[in-house]
Amino acid sequence: MAMAPDDGTLDAETAAAALLWWTATGVGFTLNERPTDHFAAPAPSIEGRPDRPLAVPAAPPALVRPPLARLEPPALAGASAPTAAAELAASAQDLSSLRAALERFEGCALKRTATQLVFSDGVPGSRVMFVGEGPGGDEDRIGRPFVGRAGQLLDRMLSAIGLDRSRVYIANVVPWRPPGNRTPTPEETQACLPFIKRQIDLADPEILVCLGALSAQTLLGVKSGITRARGSWFSYQREDERPIRALAMLHPAYLLRQPSQKRAAWADMRALAAALAGAPRPQ
Ligand code: URA
Repeated sequence: MAMAPDDGTLDAETAAAALLWWTATGVGFTLNERPTDHFAAPAPSIEGRPDRPLAVPAAPPALVRPPLARLEPPALAGASAPTAAAELAASAQDLSSLRAALERFEGCALKRTATQLVFSDGVPGSRVMFVGEGPGGDEDRIGRPFVGRAGQLLDRMLSAIGLDRSRVYIANVVPWRPPGNRTPTPEETQACLPFIKRQIDLADPEILVCLGALSAQTLLGVKSGITRARGSWFSYQREDERPIRALAMLHPAYLLRQPSQKRAAWADMRALAAALAGAPRPQ
């Protein structure tokens, strides 16, 4: 392995490895052009007394620079993010306009740290729509949902019941990658909610499958944990008030960490297959 030279600079290989590590752990911004070695700064005095306040060393100039402009809250022209989202989403009459509306939407901070919008995969109008939590690193890079390891497992689960991406539609509750693959915050989720609801209406599935806790909580109002809710059928109320059937399932990423749960997921896939084998909806 290459070593860092003594002068504190990094050789290209070490710098590239450090960048990969930082992005994987969620470091999305640089605040200063040069690093600050806080260990090298003089330690604050610990002799604080009421008559003699703690000595705090002056901050190095780099620390008092204002944060980069892109950390500031987005301009929403006076509307709150969910209100702006609801108006934009409702105005979209088809999926390509909805995608364009999301590209214009500035009300979710995730957009500013993600590489690109991850809108959908599969075929709108399919009988089943899967909704996950949010894109991960691979999805953020490629621009399609469920293309990483969890997505490959989802593909194997689909194929086990004779499906593939040409026969389902796939999206996420939030369409931008949360930094470091963290769970989206309630604010981020609420800001994106009108879009995924509109996407469900426009994709028009017969059955909605919510993958993982965040999707089941957000779209189906599930309050219990996903391990309890999985395998249960719900009624999902579309925005136009038409109810459709919805199934809560374990997230494939969870199955990768807990392979012993694959048996439960297999039972849920069979339940989905059985529901699809029932009479299709009238056209
Ligand atoms: N996990 C998700 O919830 N969605 C993706 O697209 C990928 C991983």
